[in-house]
Amino acid sequence: MKKIVILISGRGSNMQALLEAKLPCRIAAVISNRVDAQGLDIAKAHGIATAVVEHRDYADRENFDAALAETIDIYQPDFVVLAGFMRILTTKFVKRYHGKLINIHPSLLPAFGGLNTHARALHDGVKIHGCTVHFVASDLDHGPIIIQAAVPVLRDDTEQTLAARVLREEHRIYAQAIRWLCEDKVVLNEQGQTILLIHRQSGFTLVSPGLE
Ligand code: GRF
Repeated sequence: MKKIVILISGRGSNMQALLEAKLPCRIAAVISNRVDAQGLDIAKAHGIATAVVEHRDYADRENFDAALAETIDIYQPDFVVLAGFMRILTTKFVKRYHGKLINIHPSLLPAFGGLNTHARALHDGVKIHGCTVHFVASDLDHGPIIIQAAVPVLRDDTEQTLAARVLREEHRIYAQAIRWLCEDKVVLNEQGQTILLIHRQSGFTLVSPGLE
């Protein structure tokens, strides 16, 4: 059975969704870069080992990433799953976990990489927004895409209502992506593209706002 380690920085709702999804893998540990991350309590309540590598204890990103990698490697995971992990990782770290490092981002990449994705989506007036699970590449919020979910942006949406609609989908697609990975249904080809060894194709078109 494959092993995963989950990295968090805060609330941990994506992590919780993974813990509750009955995935075909062993969740070996949850590691946080903040000792006050709420997700740590949730992980403990699920009987999962936790560790903290405080980024503030390290002089620079290189040293933090080295300490983080040392902690991760204790568990020898097949995949390192970033779930609301709010640190930019060095190229060295990303390369070390090539093909093993997975992230969820609250936008339909390549649109709206970086922070404040929901506010920026509202500001730009997009009618469809969403979330993306992808392999991590050295460029921030880039890398081969595994799965995306799209949601409509509604007329009266605020940042909060839009975030909540996207988050609900994050919880669904992250569990699906990790399940596929653990079942060896996702591979990276030589061009660095994701190949999904599944038969399902979406039967839906999302038109937003709808046609009349
Ligand atoms: C999620 O929206 C995730 O996509 C983003 O940060 C948020 C973390 O939420 N990177 P949680 O900690 O999983 O609840």
